[in-house]
Amino acid sequence: MPILDPFGRFFEASLVFGFRTISILSRPFRRPARGLRSVFRRAYWKYKLKGLGDRSRIYPRVVIHSPENVGVGDHVEIAEFVHIWGNGGVDIGDFSIIGAHSIITTLTHDKDSPVYNQSLVMKSVRIGRNVWIGTGSILLPGITIGDGAIIGAGSIVSRDVKPATVVVGFPASVLFKLEKKGEGTP
Ligand SMILES: CC(C)(COP(=O)(O)OP(=O)(O)OC[C@H]1O[C@@H](n2cnc3c(N)ncnc32)[C@H](O)[C@@H]1OP(=O)(O)O)[C@@H](O)C(=O)NCCC(=O)NCCS
Repeated sequence: MPILDPFGRFFEASLVFGFRTISILSRPFRRPARGLRSVFRRAYWKYKLKGLGDRSRIYPRVVIHSPENVGVGDHVEIAEFVHIWGNGGVDIGDFSIIGAHSIITTLTHDKDSPVYNQSLVMKSVRIGRNVWIGTGSILLPGITIGDGAIIGAGSIVSRDVKPATVVVGFPASVLFKLEKKGEGTP
């Protein structure tokens, strides 16, 4: 015997109708609202970071610890869900891209310490100009990435990367050199 629940159905239909109506009525305001949000987000990061260059974009849901130690150049893109532990200092050069879900850490612990969480080791991370960090990469403390380098998606970078070099894997190793880019600066 089917259970009749006319009120439940009516309630559900009203909810759907309500959400659809709101969605249609709010359509003309969505684009300006998005623009306004990005203006506020930029102002927030400009205030928080050591530096944020012209035309650089930090997408929503980016987490940056110690932003006062993180400098971002001009025309940089930092995609969603990037997580930066900036305590030891991070510098990101002009025209670089940090792919979504990447992690940049300048923090580690002393493996010889009796209690790891009572030791903190900080080493800066330097990212050159026109560097492309593929999605889901991890950059470990103390590394420098040369101008024009590419870090393949999902790589773990534990050593310095030379300019105009493509590295992939964990630990990241050289896939090939980009001859055409020279020093890789636009
Ligand atoms: C690194 C990258 C730029 C190389 O591109 P490509 O020159 O077209 O390289 P190919 O696809 O020809 O691959 C060459 C070899 O490297 C391997 N490879 C490519 N990218 C790899 C990666 N991220 N990790 C491990 N191996 C990789 C391929 O499997 C292939 O191996 P094979 O020769 O044994 O078959 C690209 O693979 C990449 O990772 N792009 C990042 C994409 C991304 O993150 N997009 C989000 C927007 S930021």
